[in-house]
Amino acid sequence: MSTVHTLRVSRLGAALAASLLVAACSGERSGDVAAANPQVPADGATVDPANWPQPEWPFAEDAALEKKVDDLLATMTVEEKVGQIVQGDIASITPEDVRKYRLGSILAGGGSDPGGKYNAKPEEWLALADAFWEASMDTSGGGKAIPVIWGIDAMHGQSNIVGATLFPHNIGLGAMRNPELLREIARITAIETRTTGMEWTFAPTVAVPQDDRWGRAYEGYSEDPKLVASYAGVFVEGLQGKPGTPEFLDDHHVMSSVKHFLGDGGTANGKDQGDTIVSEAQLRDIHAAGYVPAIAAGAQAVMASFNSFHGEKLHGHKPLLTDVLKDRMNFGGFIVGDWNGHGQVRGCTNTNCAQTYIAGLDMAMASDSWKGMYESTLKHVQDGTIPMERLDDAVRRILRVKFRANLFEKPKPSERALGGRFELLGAPEHREVARRAVRESLVLLKNQSGILPLSPKQTVLVAGDGADNLAKQAGGWTLTWQGDGTKREDFPNADSIWDGLKAQIDAAGGRAELAVDGKYTRKPDVAVVVFGEEPYAEFQGDLSNLMFKSGKSGDLELIQKLKAEGIPVVAVFLSGRPLWLNREINAADAFVAAWLPGSEGGGVADVLLQGADGKPQHDFKGKLSFSWPRRADQYANNVGQEGYDPLFAFGHGLTYADKGDLAPLPEEPGIDPEADGGNTWFVRGAPTTGLTLRLVGADGGAMDVVHPAAKTSDGSLQMSAINTDVQEGARLFDWSGPGAVQLLSYQPIDLSRETNGDVPVVLQLRVDALPASPDATLSAACGEGCTGEVAIGEALAKLPRGEWTRLGVPLKCLRAGGADTGRLVLPFALRAAAGTRLALASVSVSTEFDHLADCNR
Ligand code: BGC
Ligand code: BGC
Repeated sequence: MSTVHTLRVSRLGAALAASLLVAACSGERSGDVAAANPQVPADGATVDPANWPQPEWPFAEDAALEKKVDDLLATMTVEEKVGQIVQGDIASITPEDVRKYRLGSILAGGGSDPGGKYNAKPEEWLALADAFWEASMDTSGGGKAIPVIWGIDAMHGQSNIVGATLFPHNIGLGAMRNPELLREIARITAIETRTTGMEWTFAPTVAVPQDDRWGRAYEGYSEDPKLVASYAGVFVEGLQGKPGTPEFLDDHHVMSSVKHFLGDGGTANGKDQGDTIVSEAQLRDIHAAGYVPAIAAGAQAVMASFNSFHGEKLHGHKPLLTDVLKDRMNFGGFIVGDWNGHGQVRGCTNTNCAQTYIAGLDMAMASDSWKGMYESTLKHVQDGTIPMERLDDAVRRILRVKFRANLFEKPKPSERALGGRFELLGAPEHREVARRAVRESLVLLKNQSGILPLSPKQTVLVAGDGADNLAKQAGGWTLTWQGDGTKREDFPNADSIWDGLKAQIDAAGGRAELAVDGKYTRKPDVAVVVFGEEPYAEFQGDLSNLMFKSGKSGDLELIQKLKAEGIPVVAVFLSGRPLWLNREINAADAFVAAWLPGSEGGGVADVLLQGADGKPQHDFKGKLSFSWPRRADQYANNVGQEGYDPLFAFGHGLTYADKGDLAPLPEEPGIDPEADGGNTWFVRGAPTTGLTLRLVGADGGAMDVVHPAAKTSDGSLQMSAINTDVQEGARLFDWSGPGAVQLLSYQPIDLSRETNGDVPVVLQLRVDALPASPDATLSAACGEGCTGEVAIGEALAKLPRGEWTRLGVPLKCLRAGGADTGRLVLPFALRAAAGTRLALASVSVSTEFDHLADCNR
């Protein structure tokens, strides 16, 4: 489609970009820019604790417990105290480090595993838990024995461990509307987590996602605060047990951390880690809804959020962390930070941030920065920057939790009640609960002529790339952070949707055939096509609109092909959010939103297939917990809001008693699909909409390019179209003098999240010729004096000549060089010297590359 772009008249665009450059330099800001830039000071959005609710903290003053805490605290050195308030990640800390620095806690992040193996054995996890515990209890060096606590993202089951039961992600649990089943899920998650030695999970997420483009939408139960509130306390109780009963934090339960406080689901444009610019009342009534019941249920930890509230990062937000959460809302546990979240507070770095503790954080998640954080914090305490009372308060809060969980009396993790009971991972009775959750979370949106339930006695084709795909079924936060890179054998206790259908069809005497591409051997009576989103986590799942892109797998074509052959089609859609896919819904006879169901594909068969008596085995129960969009640009259309106009409303979901016919839906997405560059700025040799391609010659003369071939007026830089696998798929740039290829943006681009996540700008290029000492730079700018430049001559020289490859340049290097990546108007400028000839096919911000340039920082 490059012609569309090249024919575009971009005069206006260039003028606009130029004026934005000026605006950005002079400090004028539109609301959008302010929203995008975390460095903008708070604009007066104040918080008055008196407006906030006061849940009851379920633990009465306990003199005996306080005495234990005081006695221990009185014997602790300042170093030992500081150790308690810093948490390190197992990828960056060893038991030896814990022995030496006396840290109070460790974590395993989504991408951290024993020995760096995502599929490490449960035995290896448990052995590591023992080793860390032993280090923390070792007093041979004179330190005090204070048991370390290990936190992990057991987000939908103990999803870090091979063989664990994988429950549906929260969006599916929201559709289920069943708090008692949720309690069971939490209880089982705690049990499975204990088998591998951890006593703490970073769950539940009580975000109330307001913009479905957010890559973490699926981690939230619902867009509706009431539904989230009806779940939050129950889940906490399921994990921890009921306060005041003997089961509370016993060996069968784990500590909970309710996250992410506060406003994670409300960021502008659904940007992960962005700015939440809502009123205090909205912050309270929408985003804080889950914390009220969670505190009343006795949640032992709350995790601070990456996002800002009106430009102020939560990790440094004293009014919200201390005045509201602790003082007003009676939260008596401790506040843990998120992954280097303190480093984003104004004036802080990952290894130095007194502000976060002063604001009320009690334990910093200094994953890979723990040593520097420990050292700087110690200094801050010694010189009084962090008052001793604040340090003591933080340590007290952490110790109280350790005493409440009786950890001082417990043996090492492997010797506790469930340590090493690996037969509980994916135990049949646990999987049965997960399967029930799958059944109850499926939402039926179309059932033309009552095609469902299907008779299992027929010939059934099961197709689509989600049909036999556990990774896709389980989504992010499954064995790996992004949920990618796994194999079938990593899911020993799991059934794909195909497995579930086949088992029942075989048993009923029907015939089931799996053909992902739809190429069957015998013509089926009906086809079940399973397709959807690839797994993702956090910002990597952020979208710019809600259009489902069939992508390479060609799902729409698959459904259409089967229909053209006279085969009725049941579509089962796997996704972390509602998306716009009217064409697929129209093409299929039935449409089921299955969310991210996890390990129990059998639950899908239970609802789709009839029993032996020809009646439904289980009816559809799921009701939408997120409104379904009418158009691809309807991303923030939530129940109860003004102008609410969804395609399928919150709470919608058909049953077998309903007439499931659906009139054809409009197939106009409401957006220009070509316009959606996302973070792709240049594709098939042309800039994406919103960007202008500019050539700058040796004499500084600039020209905006609209045709496939162009030359600067001084002739120093020449561009022509060349073919790749597609006609005119790239542009060839030939330098006979110094000059630059630039991409300018109409709107400032916010890449702060991607920069923090260490994502590079990726150039898909082919180097044909370079001068003897290649002098080339890549830069990005947010205006004059706001430019970051990285030398890439060496990196280019290392690339194979004449071959297509992908070179990444870390955004971090551009930021370190001086560009504020939160508001780029010139996201890309490639400057090179005479004798350089290279072809460029695409430029994007992506985690996929072949080579990475080094910025030596
Ligand atoms: C970790 C994740 C973490 C992320 C933060 C990853 O390397 O494994 O757990 O959430 O970094 O950006
Ligand atoms: C995520 C948290 C998670 C933490 C540890 C962060 O990046 O935001 O939800 O608990 O990493 O993996």
